[in-house]
Amino acid sequence: ISLKPYNTFGIDSMAKHFVSINSVKELQQLLDDHSYPEKFILGGGSNMLMAKDIDTLVVHVNIKGIEKVSETASEVIITAKAGENWHQFVLWCLEQDYGGLENMSLIPGNVGTAPIQNIGAYGIELKDVFQSCEAIEISSNTLKTFDREDCKFGYRNSIFKNEAKGKYIITSVTFRLTKNNHKLNTSYGAIETELAEMGIDVPKIKDISNAVIAIRQRKLPDPAILGNSGSFFKNPIIKKEAFAVLQQKYPDIPHYVVSNDEIKVPAGWLIEEAGFKGKRFGDAGVHKNQALVLVNHGNATGSELWGLAQKIQQCVLARFGIAIEAEVNVIQ
Ligand code: EPU
Repeated sequence: ISLKPYNTFGIDSMAKHFVSINSVKELQQLLDDHSYPEKFILGGGSNMLMAKDIDTLVVHVNIKGIEKVSETASEVIITAKAGENWHQFVLWCLEQDYGGLENMSLIPGNVGTAPIQNIGAYGIELKDVFQSCEAIEISSNTLKTFDREDCKFGYRNSIFKNEAKGKYIITSVTFRLTKNNHKLNTSYGAIETELAEMGIDVPKIKDISNAVIAIRQRKLPDPAILGNSGSFFKNPIIKKEAFAVLQQKYPDIPHYVVSNDEIKVPAGWLIEEAGFKGKRFGDAGVHKNQALVLVNHGNATGSELWGLAQKIQQCVLARFGIAIEAEVNVIQ
């Protein structure tokens, strides 16, 4: 079958064998069946670029459900199953007036893949609201619990991208959210501006969500209309000294201080400066409003998009001496 409906880039890569599973039990039965020794695990397909066809069994994790585990006067613990759509889950939490996820509104993908890259936006990362997750260890077919420390979260990073890569299938994620006394995070400049424009002085969590949605809709293409995988690259973190040299040449370069001797530079800015914003090579392109996002104008193949990504990497390296790293998982 074609995996086009299962990846937000809309790449028409083919799967020889495909199965969608709806429960942990089904998943465990499947793992016990050794007819397909290798399996390709697919979640929301929002953070991958399929640069080839898949000849192993594709397992689409489609386990659904949201459940309140416990609550105190001020906090609530909620578990969402891996196959829940992330944004639908955020909206559900907002409806119950559970706070903590509002800054991460409208991020494509599913709950189960959110911990892998520690999704984040507008000043909040998944790790800030993460309590634990459950995952099946493929080799032993047993369920394990990972707490926040076990996950070794970093910027767009976790154990699931490193030593645990390919070894586990996340089946549910448990969040610690606020019930009242919400801690609003409006530190990201664009949110403040947006709220001011909306005429809101005392924002509620729903207002923050609406502000984030408005900002994202302006800048980021809707995958249902224009195939994409959000930010294609990570924002590079460079040494203070290297940054000082860059800043002399480009006094307006945007940046965020991450530690005493490290500075994060927006890759979108580097790519725009390198002349790629809005460019198109066949159906593979760079988004016109946000240079960090690669887009599929229709029938681009995964390898065409990966070719463009590599070309961008080379140009940014040649021009700024900075190696930018893919954030999406490139399947090649
Ligand atoms: N910029 C440019 N040109 C561009 C794009 C950005 O000059 O084409 C500059 C902007 O002017 C701004 C700065 O870069 O000063 C930052 O831009 P933006 O606020 O759009 O954020 P970003 O650093 O490009 C990151 C995340 C996004 C997240 C936003 C908001 C990464 C890799 N990306 O992007 O995450 O939504 O911050 O928090 O960290 C994603 O991971 O898929 C994603 C969309």
